[in-house]
Amino acid sequence: MDFTLSEEHLMIQSAAREFAKNELLPGVIERDEHQKFPTEQIKKMGELGFLGMMVDPKYGGGGMDTLSYAIAMEEISKIDASASVVMSVNNSLVCWGLETYGSEEQKQKYLTRLASGEIIGAFCLSEPEAGSDATSQKTTAIDKGDHYILNGTKNWITNGGTADVYLVIAQTYPEKGHKGINALIVEKGMPGFEIGPKEQKLGIRGSDTHSLMFTDVKVPKENRIGEDGFGFTFAMKTLAGGRIGIASQALGIAAGAYELAKEYSKVRKAFGTEICNHQAIAFKLADMATQITAARLLVYKAARDKDNHENYDLSGAMAKLYASQVAMDTTIEAVQIHGGNGYVKEYHVERLMRDAKITQIYEGTSEIQKIVISRAVLKD
Ligand code: CAA
Ligand code: FAD
Repeated sequence: MDFTLSEEHLMIQSAAREFAKNELLPGVIERDEHQKFPTEQIKKMGELGFLGMMVDPKYGGGGMDTLSYAIAMEEISKIDASASVVMSVNNSLVCWGLETYGSEEQKQKYLTRLASGEIIGAFCLSEPEAGSDATSQKTTAIDKGDHYILNGTKNWITNGGTADVYLVIAQTYPEKGHKGINALIVEKGMPGFEIGPKEQKLGIRGSDTHSLMFTDVKVPKENRIGEDGFGFTFAMKTLAGGRIGIASQALGIAAGAYELAKEYSKVRKAFGTEICNHQAIAFKLADMATQITAARLLVYKAARDKDNHENYDLSGAMAKLYASQVAMDTTIEAVQIHGGNGYVKEYHVERLMRDAKITQIYEGTSEIQKIVISRAVLKD
C-alpha cells in the first residue's frame, strides 16, 4: 500500500501547519485557561476551507479526499485540539452526514453555509442515559403529520452553544427499537429548544460543550434526514467516518507532544550533557516515534479505505483505538521528559496530556471500539 503523499496533500499539510502556528498557537494557553471558544480562529478556518474540506464544491466545499482531511486534522491538533474538534464535528459528522443522506433542499438550505463556515453544526446523539448504549434513546420525536414534536435531553454536545444547526437523533417508534429512530435537523431558536450551561472540562477546554433540552419543539417533516426510521443507521454510518477524524486528532496531539519533547531533550542539560544523551530519554523518544508512525499508518489506511469506497468501520475503529492510546502514552512521556517544566502551562505538554484523554472517550469509547473491532474480526 503506497502512502506517499501527493503534491496536493503536501500543500494542504503545509497550509494547515502554517495556520496552526500563526493563528492558533498565539492565545492557545489563554483560551484553555479561560475556556474561551476560538471564535476568530474558527471564522478564519472557514474562510480557508478547513470546515467543509470533503464537501462537493457545488455546495461550497473543498472537494478533497478523506486523507487530505486527516492530514489537516493532524496538523491543527498538534497545536490546538479544541479548534480541531470543532473542525472534526463540522466536517465529518455534520457536513458529511448531510451531504451523504440529506435531501437536495436540505443541502441547499444548510450544507452550503456549513461547508463555508458561515455557520457551524452539532451532532446530538448522547443522552444522560444513553452514551455508549446509543440504541437506548429516550428523546422522542412524535409524528404529527407534517411535523415532529421533539422532547428530551442531549448531553455533552460539542459546539452546543455556538452551533446554528443541530442534527438530533430521537426515537419515533419505541416499539421498533433502533429501527424506530429518526435524525432531525433542528435550528437554534426553534421555540422550546434550550441550551444548558457550558461544561467545565479537563481538556479541549476551548471547545464548547453543553447539554441541550427540547420541550415540545416543532420540527417540520422536511427536516428529517433520510427515510422514516433511518436515524440510527444514519448515526452509525456518520460516526464510522467521524472516528477517522478523531483518530487524526489523537495522532496530532501525540505528534505535537513528541515534537516538543524531542526539541526540549536536545537543549535541556543534566549531569553535564543534553538529556537526549541519556538512554532512558532517547528510548522514550524511540517508542514515541515508533508508535506515532504506526498510528499514522492506521489513520491513513482508514482514510484510504473511505476514499476507495471500501468498508472503513473496522479500519476507522482500529485507528481511533490505537491513536488515542498513543496520544495518552506519548503525552504522559512528553510531560516526563520536560520534568518540572512539563507540569506548567507555558511548555504546552500538560495541555496536550489533558486534551489526549477525551480521544479515548468521545465518538465511541475505547471499549466500544473494541466491541466494533471484535465483532468485525469474529465475523470474518
Ligand atoms: N453502519 C451501519 N449500521 C450499523 C453500524 C454501522 N457502522 N453499526 C451498527 N449498525 C446497525 C446494526 O447493523 C444494527 O442494525 P440491524 O439490526 O438492522 O442489523 C443496529 O445498528 C444496531 O447495532 P447493534 O445491534 O450492533 O447495536 P448495539 O446496541 O450492540 O451497539 C454500538 C452498537 C456499536 C455499541 C453503538 O451503540 C455505538 O457505536 N455506541 C457508541 C456511541 C457513540 O459513538 N457515540 C458518539 C457520540 S458523537 C460524539 O461523541 C461527537 C464528539 O465527541 C465530538
Ligand atoms: P457510558 O456509556 O456510561 O460508559 C461508561 C464506561 O463504561 C466507559 O468506560 C465505557 O467504555 C464503559 N462501557 C459501557 N458499555 C460497555 C460495554 N458494553 N462493554 C464494555 N465497557 C462498556 N456526544 C454527542 O452525541 N455529540 C457530541 O458532540 C459529543 N461531544 C462530546 C464532547 C465531550 C467533551 C464529551 C466528554 C463527550 C461528548 N459526547 C458527545 C458524548 C460521548 O460520545 C460519550 O460520553 C461517550 O460515547 C460515552 O458515553 P457515556 O459518557 O454515557 O459513558
